[in-house]
Amino acid sequence: MKPARILFVTGTDTGVGKTVFAALTTRSLLAHGFRVAALKPVCSGGRDDARQLHRAAGKVLPLAAVNPWHFRAALSPLVAARREKRRLRLRIVVAHIRRMARGFEVVVVEGAGGLLSPLGEDFDSRDLIRALDAEAIVLCPNQLGAVNQVRLVLEALPAAAARQARVVLVNPAQPDAASRTNLGLLKDFVDPNRILVLPWVEG
Ligand SMILES: Nc1ncnc2c1ncn2[C@@H]1O[C@H](COP(=O)(O)OP(=O)(O)O)[C@@H](O)[C@H]1O
Ligand SMILES: [Mg+2]
Repeated sequence: MKPARILFVTGTDTGVGKTVFAALTTRSLLAHGFRVAALKPVCSGGRDDARQLHRAAGKVLPLAAVNPWHFRAALSPLVAARREKRRLRLRIVVAHIRRMARGFEVVVVEGAGGLLSPLGEDFDSRDLIRALDAEAIVLCPNQLGAVNQVRLVLEALPAAAARQARVVLVNPAQPDAASRTNLGLLKDFVDPNRILVLPWVEG
């Protein structure tokens, strides 16, 4: 069987729409008949993201498989884990994602925080993308400064991942001059076919 495509949802920051996008993408793939799983391997400060992805994928995997590692403090997972005297390493997270991917065509993985937020003792989302040979999807709020933020994240990705990365601009509830012009400006730096705009959805 062909190995699953791994779509890794990351972003320029925390709170930029990763879970919303990952859940929408998972539901859409499911509705189109793909065998899809969604994972949020590392959570801190609650497991809401994992629960949302669990539901979005039709509970095809148990919550414990969607999210094996969760830490209480609403801090970076690395710090939250250390507060509980726990140590998480890249190797075990990569092994879990690979094992879960068997039998699926697509696996949507949500990171935590932004691309370089420390997730464990020896890794961040960039390390996961590299180790999994995943397709990166970079979420960024469509606001003043977005072009800089997106370019910084793309620069930080491994070159191969940056070339195939997709960018999602998340529109604000109230558009402004920056949100109306960012897409045009970003197209000077990123292949237009690789940019999506996610509308703000009330409620
Ligand atoms: N396109 C959108 N439309 C409406 N609300 C959104 C949208 N994207 C994000 N949000 C809201 O913004 C907040 C942060 O989004 P979330 O997906 O949880 O971010 P992240 O996973 O990057 O931390 C949530 O309250 C979410 O519901
Ligand atoms: Mg999230």
